Amino acid sequence: KAKEKFGKVDILVNNAGINIPRLLVDDKEPHGKYELSEAIFDKIVNVNQKGVFFCTQAVARDMVKEGSGVIINMSSESGLEGSEGQSIYAATKNAVNSFTRSWAKELGKKGIRVVGIAPGILEATGLRTIEYETALAYTRSITVDDLRAGYSKTSTTPLGRSGKLTEVADLVCYIASDRASYVHGVTYNVAGGKTRG
Ligand SMILES: NC(=O)c1ccc[n+]([C@@H]2O[C@H](COP(=O)([O-])OP(=O)(O)OC[C@H]3O[C@@H](n4cnc5c(N)ncnc54)[C@H](O)[C@@H]3O)[C@@H](O)[C@H]2O)c1
Repeated sequence: KAKEKFGKVDILVNNAGINIPRLLVDDKEPHGKYELSEAIFDKIVNVNQKGVFFCTQAVARDMVKEGSGVIINMSSESGLEGSEGQSIYAATKNAVNSFTRSWAKELGKKGIRVVGIAPGILEATGLRTIEYETALAYTRSITVDDLRAGYSKTSTTPLGRSGKLTEVADLVCYIASDRASYVHGVTYNVAGGKTRG
């Protein structure tokens, strides 16, 4: 649709993503309520990893013909560090980091830059539903209130606050621009100093 409307695609931002917090083993009562299943594994991998592959391949075919383009992969700080209750999500984001590095090697020589962004805790988005918070708090044996208090704790995030969406968007704009013409094959952590998921 973007190609129909604009003639070509110059910038692809692989932003779509989902997260369903679950434990590898849920031994609390009732047993298995928040345990990972194959269906959840497939669902998260299909959107976060396969979706990035399909979108990038479709767009990169044309970018290669043009000899230019920028691909930005939305990762997560949890992909760098792992995250309690979010192992599949974090694994897909680490896979995305690996895509960024490999595709940078394949596409750089065709004039296309590939760069990742790994946000930490951000202000609320559609991702942070009550179901999400309830499940994540459960996997960490804390309350939803404790979870929410953690969003702005300096022990979690040294800057002591959640990131603004504009702080991620500003980096997207920079990476997409020619000002970032030598930035390639890396994933930027935008996480207020947070280094553990
Ligand atoms: N919010 C955070 O704190 C945070 C932190 C780190 C990384 N991220 C990443 O940022 C990206 C955006 O997340 P967000 O926080 O804005 O969440 P969000 O739920 O508000 O946005 C996700 C978007 O993905 C779309 N989407 C989901 N499944 C799709 C599918 N199958 N096909 C097409 N579109 C689909 C949704 O429609 C939605 O617009 C995600 O990749 C997420 O993993 C978010």
